[in-house]
Amino acid sequence: MVATSAPAVATDAPPQRRIALAGRTVSRLGFGAARLTAGDGWGRPSDPVQTRRLLRLAIDEGYDYIDSADALGPGVSDEIIGDVVHPALGVVVASKVGMLRTGPHGWGVLGRPDYLRQQVYATLVRLRREQIPLLYLHRIDPDVPLDDQWGTLRELRDEGLIGHLGVCEPTIEQFEHLVDVEAPAVVQSLYNVAAPGSAAIADRADALGVPFVAYWALIGRGLAAPHHEKVFAILQAAGAPFGLTAAQTALAWVLATRANGLALVGSRSLRHLAENRAALDVRLPADVAERIGFDVAAALDGVAFDPRRSAEEER
Ligand SMILES: NC(=O)c1ccc[n+]([C@@H]2O[C@H](COP(=O)([O-])OP(=O)(O)OC[C@H]3O[C@@H](n4cnc5c(N)ncnc54)[C@H](OP(=O)(O)O)[C@@H]3O)[C@@H](O)[C@H]2O)c1
Repeated sequence: MVATSAPAVATDAPPQRRIALAGRTVSRLGFGAARLTAGDGWGRPSDPVQTRRLLRLAIDEGYDYIDSADALGPGVSDEIIGDVVHPALGVVVASKVGMLRTGPHGWGVLGRPDYLRQQVYATLVRLRREQIPLLYLHRIDPDVPLDDQWGTLRELRDEGLIGHLGVCEPTIEQFEHLVDVEAPAVVQSLYNVAAPGSAAIADRADALGVPFVAYWALIGRGLAAPHHEKVFAILQAAGAPFGLTAAQTALAWVLATRANGLALVGSRSLRHLAENRAALDVRLPADVAERIGFDVAAALDGVAFDPRRSAEEER
Protein backbone atom coordinates (compact mmCIF):
# COMPACT_ATOMS: atom_id res chain seq x y z
CA MET A 1 0.00 0.00 0.00
CA VAL A 2 1.13 3.56 -0.64
CA ALA A 3 0.48 6.40 1.79
CA THR A 4 -1.71 9.17 0.40
CA SER A 5 -1.17 11.87 2.99
CA ALA A 6 1.84 13.90 1.81
CA PRO A 7 0.95 16.20 -1.07
CA ALA A 8 3.99 17.40 -2.99
CA VAL A 9 4.56 21.10 -3.48
CA ALA A 10 5.05 22.65 -6.89
CA THR A 11 7.67 25.25 -7.71
CA ASP A 12 7.13 28.33 -9.84
CA ALA A 13 9.84 27.36 -12.33
CA PRO A 14 9.02 28.28 -15.93
CA PRO A 15 7.02 25.82 -18.07
CA GLN A 16 9.16 23.17 -19.63
CA ARG A 17 7.94 20.72 -22.26
CA ARG A 18 11.12 18.66 -22.61
CA ILE A 19 13.86 17.23 -20.38
CA ALA A 20 17.27 15.69 -20.91
CA LEU A 21 17.08 11.95 -20.40
CA ALA A 22 19.29 9.03 -21.48
CA GLY A 23 21.49 11.18 -23.69
CA ARG A 24 18.63 12.90 -25.53
CA THR A 25 16.04 15.57 -24.97
CA VAL A 26 12.54 14.16 -24.80
CA SER A 27 8.97 15.29 -24.23
CA ARG A 28 7.94 15.31 -20.58
CA LEU A 29 4.94 13.18 -21.49
CA GLY A 30 5.96 9.61 -22.30
CA PHE A 31 4.05 6.77 -23.91
CA GLY A 32 3.56 3.72 -21.65
CA ALA A 33 3.52 0.49 -23.64
CA ALA A 34 1.29 -1.64 -21.38
CA ARG A 35 -1.72 -0.89 -23.61
CA LEU A 36 0.09 -2.37 -26.63
CA THR A 37 -0.67 -5.79 -25.12
CA ALA A 38 -4.10 -7.44 -25.06
CA GLY A 39 -5.02 -6.47 -21.50
CA ASP A 40 -2.86 -4.25 -19.33
CA GLY A 41 0.21 -6.42 -19.67
CA TRP A 42 -0.61 -9.91 -20.92
CA GLY A 43 -0.91 -11.39 -24.42
CA ARG A 44 -0.91 -10.17 -28.00
CA PRO A 45 -3.36 -7.43 -28.99
CA SER A 46 -6.46 -8.63 -30.85
CA ASP A 47 -5.75 -6.23 -33.73
CA PRO A 48 -1.98 -6.13 -34.23
CA VAL A 49 -2.20 -3.92 -37.32
CA GLN A 50 -4.21 -1.27 -35.50
CA THR A 51 -1.87 -1.49 -32.48
CA ARG A 52 1.20 -0.86 -34.66
CA ARG A 53 -0.61 2.02 -36.35
CA LEU A 54 -1.45 3.54 -32.96
CA LEU A 55 2.19 3.42 -31.93
CA ARG A 56 3.25 5.14 -35.18
CA LEU A 57 0.61 7.82 -34.66
CA ALA A 58 1.68 8.31 -31.03
CA ILE A 59 5.20 9.07 -32.28
CA ASP A 60 3.77 11.47 -34.88
CA GLU A 61 1.82 13.11 -32.06
CA GLY A 62 5.11 13.87 -30.27
CA TYR A 63 5.61 10.94 -27.89
CA ASP A 64 9.35 10.41 -28.18
CA TYR A 65 9.96 8.45 -24.97
CA ILE A 66 8.43 4.95 -25.06
CA ASP A 67 8.34 2.93 -21.87
CA SER A 68 8.16 -0.84 -22.22
CA ALA A 69 9.18 -3.93 -20.22
CA ASP A 70 10.00 -7.57 -20.79
CA ALA A 71 7.16 -8.34 -18.36
CA LEU A 72 4.54 -6.81 -20.68
CA GLY A 73 3.17 -9.65 -22.74
CA PRO A 74 5.69 -11.05 -21.79
CA GLY A 75 7.81 -9.65 -24.58
CA VAL A 76 4.80 -8.48 -26.61
CA SER A 77 5.22 -4.70 -26.35
CA ASP A 78 8.99 -4.97 -26.94
CA GLU A 79 8.31 -6.97 -30.11
CA ILE A 80 5.78 -4.43 -31.43
CA ILE A 81 8.17 -1.57 -30.66
CA GLY A 82 10.90 -3.50 -32.48
CA ASP A 83 8.66 -3.66 -35.58
CA VAL A 84 7.66 0.00 -35.53
CA VAL A 85 10.34 2.12 -33.87
CA HIS A 86 13.40 2.18 -36.08
CA PRO A 87 16.50 3.64 -34.33
CA ALA A 88 16.64 6.42 -36.95
CA LEU A 89 13.40 7.88 -35.54
CA GLY A 90 15.39 9.25 -32.60
CA VAL A 91 12.87 8.04 -30.03
CA VAL A 92 14.14 6.94 -26.61
CA VAL A 93 13.02 3.33 -26.20
CA ALA A 94 13.18 2.08 -22.62
CA SER A 95 12.58 -1.46 -21.46
CA LYS A 96 12.89 -3.30 -18.16
CA VAL A 97 14.12 -6.63 -16.85
CA GLY A 98 13.98 -8.38 -13.49
CA MET A 99 10.34 -9.46 -13.30
CA LEU A 100 8.88 -12.89 -13.79
CA ARG A 101 5.53 -13.56 -15.52
CA THR A 102 4.03 -16.90 -14.61
CA GLY A 103 0.57 -16.31 -16.10
CA PRO A 104 -1.95 -13.57 -16.91
CA HIS A 105 -2.06 -12.48 -13.27
CA GLY A 106 1.29 -13.80 -12.12
CA TRP A 107 3.85 -11.09 -11.41
CA GLY A 108 7.06 -12.00 -9.60
CA VAL A 109 10.53 -10.61 -9.12
CA LEU A 110 13.69 -12.42 -10.18
CA GLY A 111 17.05 -10.66 -10.12
CA ARG A 112 19.36 -13.62 -10.57
CA PRO A 113 22.27 -12.47 -12.75
CA ASP A 114 21.87 -15.29 -15.30
CA TYR A 115 18.16 -14.47 -15.67
CA LEU A 116 18.85 -10.75 -16.11
CA ARG A 117 21.41 -11.59 -18.83
CA GLN A 118 18.94 -13.82 -20.64
CA GLN A 119 16.26 -11.11 -20.48
CA VAL A 120 18.64 -8.55 -21.92
CA TYR A 121 19.55 -10.83 -24.83
CA ALA A 122 15.87 -11.60 -25.48
CA THR A 123 14.97 -7.89 -25.31
CA LEU A 124 17.64 -7.04 -27.90
CA VAL A 125 16.13 -9.62 -30.28
CA ARG A 126 12.59 -8.34 -29.75
CA LEU A 127 13.58 -4.69 -30.13
CA ARG A 128 15.69 -5.59 -33.19
CA ARG A 129 18.57 -3.53 -31.88
CA GLU A 130 22.24 -3.90 -31.12
CA GLN A 131 21.75 -1.82 -27.98
CA ILE A 132 18.80 -1.12 -25.66
CA PRO A 133 18.83 2.68 -25.34
CA LEU A 134 17.59 2.70 -21.72
CA LEU A 135 17.11 -0.36 -19.54
CA TYR A 136 15.61 -0.37 -16.05
CA LEU A 137 15.95 -2.91 -13.30
CA HIS A 138 12.17 -3.35 -13.02
CA ARG A 139 12.20 -4.38 -9.37
CA ILE A 140 15.03 -4.99 -6.91
CA ASP A 141 14.95 -8.66 -5.89
CA PRO A 142 15.22 -8.80 -2.08
CA ASP A 143 16.67 -12.33 -2.31
CA VAL A 144 19.64 -11.41 -4.51
CA PRO A 145 22.38 -8.99 -3.42
CA LEU A 146 21.69 -5.62 -5.01
CA ASP A 147 25.31 -5.35 -6.10
CA ASP A 148 24.92 -8.57 -8.12
CA GLN A 149 21.81 -7.25 -9.89
CA TRP A 150 23.18 -3.78 -10.59
CA GLY A 151 26.64 -5.23 -11.33
CA THR A 152 25.23 -7.58 -13.99
CA LEU A 153 23.46 -4.73 -15.75
CA ARG A 154 26.58 -2.56 -15.55
CA GLU A 155 28.58 -5.37 -17.15
CA LEU A 156 26.05 -5.66 -19.96
CA ARG A 157 26.16 -1.87 -20.38
CA ASP A 158 29.98 -2.00 -20.51
CA GLU A 159 29.67 -4.73 -23.16
CA GLY A 160 27.71 -2.20 -25.23
CA LEU A 161 24.33 -3.96 -25.03
CA ILE A 162 22.68 -1.21 -22.96
CA GLY A 163 22.95 2.55 -23.47
CA HIS A 164 21.78 3.85 -20.08
CA LEU A 165 20.72 2.15 -16.84
CA GLY A 166 17.70 3.05 -14.74
CA VAL A 167 15.99 1.63 -11.69
CA CYS A 168 12.32 1.32 -10.73
CA GLU A 169 10.82 1.61 -7.27
CA PRO A 170 14.00 1.71 -5.18
CA THR A 171 13.71 2.55 -1.50
CA ILE A 172 15.70 5.61 -0.42
CA GLU A 173 18.34 3.28 1.07
CA GLN A 174 18.62 1.24 -2.13
CA PHE A 175 18.79 4.40 -4.20
CA GLU A 176 21.57 5.83 -2.01
CA HIS A 177 23.46 2.55 -2.29
CA LEU A 178 23.22 2.63 -6.09
CA VAL A 179 24.34 6.25 -6.09
CA ASP A 180 27.46 5.22 -4.14
CA VAL A 181 28.22 2.49 -6.69
CA GLU A 182 27.07 4.30 -9.84
CA ALA A 183 24.06 6.58 -9.94
CA PRO A 184 21.20 5.39 -12.14
CA ALA A 185 20.64 7.50 -15.26
CA VAL A 186 16.89 7.60 -14.50
CA VAL A 187 14.66 6.57 -11.63
CA GLN A 188 11.04 5.49 -12.20
CA SER A 189 8.36 5.12 -9.52
CA LEU A 190 4.62 5.28 -9.00
CA TYR A 191 3.67 8.92 -8.49
CA ASN A 192 0.41 10.79 -8.90
CA VAL A 193 -1.82 13.20 -6.99
CA ALA A 194 -3.48 10.32 -5.12
CA ALA A 195 -0.19 8.51 -4.45
CA PRO A 196 2.58 11.10 -3.99
CA GLY A 197 4.63 8.86 -1.67
CA SER A 198 7.62 8.76 -4.04
CA ALA A 199 8.20 12.51 -3.62
CA ALA A 200 11.18 11.83 -1.34
CA ILE A 201 12.92 9.65 -3.95
CA ALA A 202 12.06 12.17 -6.66
CA ASP A 203 13.47 15.03 -4.54
CA ARG A 204 16.69 13.12 -3.99
CA ALA A 205 16.90 12.32 -7.70
CA ASP A 206 16.36 16.04 -8.45
CA ALA A 207 19.20 16.96 -6.09
CA LEU A 208 21.51 14.62 -8.00
CA GLY A 209 20.30 15.74 -11.43
CA VAL A 210 18.76 12.32 -12.12
CA PRO A 211 15.48 12.55 -14.10
CA PHE A 212 12.39 11.08 -12.45
CA VAL A 213 9.79 9.15 -14.46
CA ALA A 214 6.33 8.94 -12.88
CA TYR A 215 4.23 5.92 -13.81
CA TRP A 216 0.47 5.83 -13.29
CA ALA A 217 0.58 9.61 -13.50
CA LEU A 218 -3.08 9.30 -14.50
CA ILE A 219 -3.92 7.80 -11.06
CA GLY A 220 -3.76 4.20 -12.31
CA ARG A 221 -5.88 1.49 -10.78
CA GLY A 222 -4.96 1.74 -7.10
CA LEU A 223 -8.23 3.23 -5.83
CA ALA A 224 -11.68 1.68 -5.60
CA ALA A 225 -14.21 3.32 -7.96
CA PRO A 226 -15.90 5.68 -5.45
CA HIS A 227 -12.51 7.09 -4.35
CA HIS A 228 -11.33 7.33 -7.93
CA GLU A 229 -14.47 9.31 -8.79
CA LYS A 230 -13.91 11.71 -5.88
CA VAL A 231 -10.34 12.39 -7.04
CA PHE A 232 -11.46 12.95 -10.62
CA ALA A 233 -14.20 15.35 -9.49
CA ILE A 234 -11.55 17.46 -7.69
CA LEU A 235 -9.30 17.36 -10.76
CA GLN A 236 -12.20 18.29 -13.05
CA ALA A 237 -13.15 21.33 -10.96
CA ALA A 238 -9.56 22.51 -10.43
CA GLY A 239 -8.56 22.11 -14.09
CA ALA A 240 -11.66 23.73 -15.64
CA PRO A 241 -10.47 27.36 -15.20
CA PHE A 242 -7.33 26.42 -17.16
CA GLY A 243 -9.32 24.66 -19.88
CA LEU A 244 -8.05 21.27 -18.73
CA THR A 245 -9.98 18.00 -18.51
CA ALA A 246 -9.62 15.89 -15.36
CA ALA A 247 -7.07 13.62 -17.08
CA GLN A 248 -5.04 16.60 -18.31
CA THR A 249 -5.13 18.07 -14.79
CA ALA A 250 -3.80 14.82 -13.30
CA LEU A 251 -0.89 14.90 -15.77
CA ALA A 252 -0.35 18.64 -15.36
CA TRP A 253 -0.16 18.15 -11.58
CA VAL A 254 2.67 15.63 -11.97
CA LEU A 255 4.49 17.92 -14.41
CA ALA A 256 4.04 20.95 -12.12
CA THR A 257 5.21 19.18 -8.97
CA ARG A 258 8.20 17.42 -10.57
CA ALA A 259 10.17 19.99 -12.51
CA ASN A 260 12.74 17.35 -13.48
CA GLY A 261 10.10 14.74 -14.20
CA LEU A 262 8.41 12.93 -17.03
CA ALA A 263 4.83 11.63 -16.74
CA LEU A 264 3.92 8.30 -18.33
CA VAL A 265 0.51 7.53 -19.76
CA GLY A 266 -0.75 4.53 -21.69
CA SER A 267 -3.66 4.53 -24.10
CA ARG A 268 -5.29 2.67 -26.98
CA SER A 269 -7.17 5.78 -28.01
CA LEU A 270 -5.83 8.35 -30.44
CA ARG A 271 -8.20 10.89 -29.01
CA HIS A 272 -6.83 10.33 -25.51
CA LEU A 273 -3.24 10.45 -26.74
CA ALA A 274 -3.85 13.85 -28.32
CA GLU A 275 -5.83 15.09 -25.31
CA ASN A 276 -3.02 14.09 -22.95
CA ARG A 277 -0.43 16.06 -24.93
CA ALA A 278 -2.28 19.28 -24.15
CA ALA A 279 -1.24 18.86 -20.50
CA LEU A 280 2.19 20.04 -21.62
CA ASP A 281 0.83 23.38 -22.79
CA VAL A 282 -0.47 24.59 -19.43
CA ARG A 283 1.59 25.05 -16.33
CA LEU A 284 -0.46 24.77 -13.16
CA PRO A 285 0.52 27.57 -10.77
CA ALA A 286 2.24 26.28 -7.63
CA ASP A 287 -0.60 27.34 -5.33
CA VAL A 288 -3.17 25.56 -7.51
CA ALA A 289 -1.10 22.35 -7.62
CA GLU A 290 -0.66 22.56 -3.88
CA ARG A 291 -4.38 23.07 -3.29
CA ILE A 292 -5.25 20.07 -5.51
CA GLY A 293 -2.80 17.93 -3.51
CA PHE A 294 -4.38 18.96 -0.20
CA ASP A 295 -7.95 18.55 -1.49
CA VAL A 296 -7.24 15.06 -2.82
CA ALA A 297 -5.52 14.01 0.42
CA ALA A 298 -8.47 15.38 2.41
CA ALA A 299 -11.01 13.61 0.17
CA LEU A 300 -9.16 10.31 0.48
CA ASP A 301 -8.88 10.85 4.24
CA GLY A 302 -6.22 8.19 4.77
CA VAL A 303 -7.55 5.69 2.19
CA ALA A 304 -4.47 3.85 0.98
CA PHE A 305 -3.63 3.64 -2.71
CA ASP A 306 -2.99 -0.05 -3.39
CA PRO A 307 -1.14 -0.81 -6.65
CA ARG A 308 -2.16 -4.49 -6.39
CA ARG A 309 -5.86 -3.76 -5.96
CA SER A 310 -7.17 -4.08 -9.51
CA ALA A 311 -4.97 -7.02 -10.43
CA GLU A 312 -6.49 -8.88 -7.51
CA GLU A 313 -10.00 -7.77 -8.43
CA GLU A 314 -9.57 -9.01 -11.99
CA ARG A 315 -8.76 -12.57 -10.84
N1 LIG B 1 7.90 0.67 -13.57
C1 LIG B 1 6.83 0.02 -13.22
O1 LIG B 1 6.85 -0.85 -12.35
C2 LIG B 1 5.52 0.32 -13.91
C3 LIG B 1 4.32 -0.20 -13.40
C4 LIG B 1 3.13 0.13 -14.06
C5 LIG B 1 3.16 0.91 -15.20
N2 LIG B 1 4.36 1.36 -15.67
C6 LIG B 1 4.44 2.18 -16.89
O2 LIG B 1 3.43 3.13 -16.90
C7 LIG B 1 2.72 3.04 -18.13
C8 LIG B 1 1.31 3.51 -17.99
O3 LIG B 1 0.60 2.63 -17.15
P1 LIG B 1 -0.83 2.06 -17.56
O4 LIG B 1 -1.03 2.07 -19.04
O5 LIG B 1 -0.98 0.78 -16.81
O6 LIG B 1 -1.80 3.06 -16.84
P2 LIG B 1 -2.11 4.61 -17.05
O7 LIG B 1 -1.31 5.25 -18.09
O8 LIG B 1 -2.12 5.22 -15.69
O9 LIG B 1 -3.62 4.55 -17.49
C9 LIG B 1 -4.01 3.94 -18.66
C10 LIG B 1 -5.54 4.02 -18.66
O10 LIG B 1 -5.92 5.39 -18.74
C11 LIG B 1 -6.80 5.55 -19.85
N3 LIG B 1 -6.56 6.88 -20.42
C12 LIG B 1 -5.44 7.35 -21.04
N4 LIG B 1 -5.61 8.64 -21.40
C13 LIG B 1 -6.85 9.00 -20.99
C14 LIG B 1 -7.61 10.19 -21.08
N5 LIG B 1 -7.13 11.30 -21.64
N6 LIG B 1 -8.86 10.21 -20.57
C15 LIG B 1 -9.37 9.11 -19.97
N7 LIG B 1 -8.71 7.93 -19.87
C16 LIG B 1 -7.46 7.88 -20.38
C17 LIG B 1 -6.48 4.41 -20.77
O11 LIG B 1 -7.61 4.06 -21.52
P3 LIG B 1 -7.61 4.21 -23.14
O12 LIG B 1 -6.73 3.13 -23.66
O13 LIG B 1 -9.05 4.04 -23.48
O14 LIG B 1 -7.09 5.60 -23.43
C18 LIG B 1 -6.14 3.29 -19.80
O15 LIG B 1 -7.31 2.65 -19.35
C19 LIG B 1 2.87 1.58 -18.53
O16 LIG B 1 2.65 1.40 -19.88
C20 LIG B 1 4.30 1.32 -18.12
O17 LIG B 1 5.15 1.79 -19.14
C21 LIG B 1 5.52 1.10 -15.04
